[in-house]
Amino acid sequence: MIEELLTIKNIDVYFVVGIILLFGILESISGFLKNSNRKKGDWIQEILSFLVLGNLVKPIIILLMFGFCDFFFPQYRLALASIPFIGLFAAYILIDDVLQYWYHRSAHETPFLWKLHRPHHQAEEMGFFVSYRNALLYYLLMPNIWWVALILFLGGGKVVALGLILKQLIIIGSHSRLKWDKPFYQYAALRPIIKILERIIITPAFHHSHHGTSRLDTASEPNGNFGNMFSLWDQLFGTATFQNSYPKEYGLQQKTNDPWTASYFYPFVKSPDLNSEWSAGFKKTDTTTLEALSVPLTKGEAYLWCACGMSKNQPFCDGSHHGTKYKPQKFTVKRTGTTRLCNCKKSNGTPFCDDTHLSL
Ligand code: FES
Repeated sequence: MIEELLTIKNIDVYFVVGIILLFGILESISGFLKNSNRKKGDWIQEILSFLVLGNLVKPIIILLMFGFCDFFFPQYRLALASIPFIGLFAAYILIDDVLQYWYHRSAHETPFLWKLHRPHHQAEEMGFFVSYRNALLYYLLMPNIWWVALILFLGGGKVVALGLILKQLIIIGSHSRLKWDKPFYQYAALRPIIKILERIIITPAFHHSHHGTSRLDTASEPNGNFGNMFSLWDQLFGTATFQNSYPKEYGLQQKTNDPWTASYFYPFVKSPDLNSEWSAGFKKTDTTTLEALSVPLTKGEAYLWCACGMSKNQPFCDGSHHGTKYKPQKFTVKRTGTTRLCNCKKSNGTPFCDDTHLSL
């Protein structure tokens, strides 16, 4: 039945457009679009990105892949066409999802890829279209699209179509402001269901947490929850944090004034804002010192200690760690007063200074 449905020409495109319309209409009815602070540039970038992805990026990559494979391995064209649908679909979707996990995670941990993924996190409101908000080059380099092209060459057209439909449903659902999982957390009787579900697929609470501005907010974990469709990889590789609430604030700690053109076309177009990571010549610098920094702290208040050594507000985190493997350390103090915090970043008892810097 499903297999037959998938033979309808462009069925995946109809479903993708249908899913977007469904979430768009529901967000609009819920009043989210009316109360939105999104600027014109946000809409232009996201709509353009969606259209270019489907009509330019994917066709170009598919064309290149077919050209390459036909030249070097013509005997493998349609080689997987006779494999049972379910087996091929399971293999395709799991490989697709683990590729996406590592690409996304690398985009948070390496400086250049971070700049291509930064548009996604610059959004200060969640919404169905945020799913498509990345630099053009981010999509051109995305291993998943190359994987899709390879599977198409090998004869897996139907598994790709079903994968695209399911992916859109989960991804747009997890980015949307509708928070479809909220009732499951509110009503005790429904909680066991969401506890199981969130350990399988990416839910809004799980993914919104990834878009939260700072770890100071307990519902936010911007340095984790990298999964795309399944939370399996986050659980397996130790980056999962399950939430039952949603961040109070979304977006980046460092606010910059960038035109949408720099956001979408970086590195080909640079930002005029010199504080922006997309500006020409922007560099993060080492701001560590071989001495402790004494700062007044208040009992019961939470702070974020900079672990990457690049904050301009040492010893506290200012968000400069994006694009590295570091994440800030959240801490509190037992008494109000002045405390010596480590700023060589080598203390054995971070965030507090243990005089390790004296031996460096
Ligand atoms: S600026 Fe956040 S950890 Fe250094």
